[in-house]
Amino acid sequence: MHNSAEFVSVGPTTRVLAIETSCDETAAAIVVGGRTIRSSVVATQADMHAQFGGVVPEVASRAHVELINGVVTQALSDAGMALADVDVVAACHGPGLAGALLVGVSAAKALALVADRPYIGVHHHEAHMYAAFLEDATLEPPCVTLIVSGGHTLLIAMDDYGKYRVLGRTVDDAAGEAFDKVARLLGLGYPGGPLIDRLAASGDPKAVHFTRPMINDGNDFSFSGLKTAVVLHRRKFPDFDPADTAASFQEAVVDLLVTKLLRVAKAEGIDTVVIGGGVAANSSLRARVANDSALAGLRCVIPDRTLCTDNAAMVAAAAWHRLRVEPATGLGGGATPNLALPTLVSG
Ligand code: KG4
Ligand code: ZN
Repeated sequence: MHNSAEFVSVGPTTRVLAIETSCDETAAAIVVGGRTIRSSVVATQADMHAQFGGVVPEVASRAHVELINGVVTQALSDAGMALADVDVVAACHGPGLAGALLVGVSAAKALALVADRPYIGVHHHEAHMYAAFLEDATLEPPCVTLIVSGGHTLLIAMDDYGKYRVLGRTVDDAAGEAFDKVARLLGLGYPGGPLIDRLAASGDPKAVHFTRPMINDGNDFSFSGLKTAVVLHRRKFPDFDPADTAASFQEAVVDLLVTKLLRVAKAEGIDTVVIGGGVAANSSLRARVANDSALAGLRCVIPDRTLCTDNAAMVAAAAWHRLRVEPATGLGGGATPNLALPTLVSG
């Protein structure tokens, strides 16, 4: 019985079935050898939450319960596998919404028990870091990762697999949160990031020079002053073209993110930068990271958009790499809404 925290031997043919339910995406995927995606299914609940202008935790948990079986079945069928063909079962076990996480963790543990396979819980941000490793099979640490999602903005040095140092984080709002709040202000709806991205494409990013808080000040980020600057500008000029506002706001966020990412990589002497998390799907951020890292002589890996927003393939990849350095979680593992980033050295 694989119900305890045992070491599991993983190799190039090890098949990991992973589940992701930390927020409003119900996802399952199968990844072989930590790098090859055999299937990746994502059922988004965005439409259900749009009417409320944001994610409603209870609605998310109930939707996960309804969707999870179908999503897992689809992931197995897309990969041409039965549950018995899976070697390890993984789930994102935090951080995230408690009720939402519990659905994925419980489902993964039940599948592990039935199939008599080891279960491992994976940290959500560690999973976002591994999207780049699925995108580019030649990528190896060290690298500096920028994780930009709805709840977090983090600059992390990945010195080796499982060895992370948090170099910078937001002191107030997350980048995705700023996109969502400004989208609401412009009356665009939810989720705001993709809507700002689309609207900004027809706007002038130089129309307004919004503040870049703390741009020359360390590795941490602050977005709440920028959000307030957009609010004040809107109040003063209610008829200003929303596309120009969106483009100028996006330009300020991207400027902050890319400046700090490249600066810290140079300071650390690390020549590869990667991005991950929902905001990494942003067109302007992707273009600027590609362009500016080339100019700075740094290698960059930008995952496909479907790997940036929440998905289970990244959870499977992170699970495989984590099992190389530590034991499985075992069936006693729970869900932790404020889980800290696991690391082999103190960060
Ligand atoms: O990583 P993610 O899917 O879920 C969390 O872990 O939070 O990130 C969701 C965030 C939301 O704030 C959403 O508005 C933002 O990512 N986002 C974007 C884009 N696509 C998603 N932000 C800017 N541009 C986008 N294209
Ligand atoms: Zn995420």
